[in-house]
Amino acid sequence: MNRLTLRRPDDWHVHLRDGAALAAVVKFTAQRFGRAIVMPNLKPPITTAALARAYRERIVAALPKGARFEPLLTLYLTDSTTPDEIDRARAAGFVHGIKLYPAGATTHSDAGVTDIAKVHGVLARMEELGMPLLVHGETPGPDVDVFDREAHFIDAVLGPLTERFRGLRVVFEHITTAGAVDFITRARAGVAATITPQHLLHNRNAIFAGGIRPHYYCLPVLKRERDREALLRAATSGSPRFFLGTDSAPHERADKENACGCAGMFTAHAAIELYAEAFDSVGHLDRLEAFASHFGADFYGLPRHDDTITLVKEPWTPPQVYEFGDGALVPYRAGESIAWRLAGTEGA
Ligand code: DOR
Ligand code: ZN
Repeated sequence: MNRLTLRRPDDWHVHLRDGAALAAVVKFTAQRFGRAIVMPNLKPPITTAALARAYRERIVAALPKGARFEPLLTLYLTDSTTPDEIDRARAAGFVHGIKLYPAGATTHSDAGVTDIAKVHGVLARMEELGMPLLVHGETPGPDVDVFDREAHFIDAVLGPLTERFRGLRVVFEHITTAGAVDFITRARAGVAATITPQHLLHNRNAIFAGGIRPHYYCLPVLKRERDREALLRAATSGSPRFFLGTDSAPHERADKENACGCAGMFTAHAAIELYAEAFDSVGHLDRLEAFASHFGADFYGLPRHDDTITLVKEPWTPPQVYEFGDGALVPYRAGESIAWRLAGTEGA
């Protein structure tokens, strides 16, 4: 198959940032996707419906003219978030999830939750309202091996939480291990997961190929080959519990190529194309549309799009850098070939 037309997909996990960075990257997401769940880990974080409303307006203002793209906002959960704030988020209409960052787990997570028991009241309200909890599933801190953080979190927090709040809708974001695939497959109804393109295409060797490669560093970090294979099997399985979420996370070049480089890979410029590569690698392009365009919308209770996009199997090469405010952004696969290209989009 060299040409593939899909119902327009959505990105169920993306970092759009703010200000000049937002203006530099949002066009890539809006070109491909009809909607995206936008992460709230700004500085300061988006912790209230009022902040989400203002951020939403900045995103819409940064869109290219004529773009048909709907940002779906999220709130950043802290120890002091109140159930009333969840009510306000629900009433606002544009907040579609509440993001749990365990404090210290990743970029801009220092305001995150220090102890899950502190937010039990908020989780109960979310369960009541059908507001999804979006989870960065890693146990932070020096005592847990960096490659075991996801497994530890499943046992210590996520497993008990999905049992305690049996009606809570939960998205286990950017899963990276065979253990997480297993957890999702066995979980009760209402528990799903997103998978990034980099975790489908690479194992952790990519971070150390011939030297240290900061542009392959993201959190949760890439894992073993057997984990990558399990993720690819899950994504292409046709199970509605697994859907697309790029975790595209732009950082200025100097913040990546640094003695203490930031976590995050920028993939928005080629997001759906990279998933096509991954699905093609196992002969399952026929399953891409459901993963990219059906299952996430169904989980969030939103309509599937009526328009389409078309991909063609024609190699192209992303530039070494994109503009990024006053700095530069090194995209994933900079100067290297990508097998699939976005051919065009057709209206409904
Ligand atoms: O690699 C990552 N980058 N993982 C995250 O969880 C956060 C993200 C970011 O905001 O840069
Ligand atoms: Zn993320």
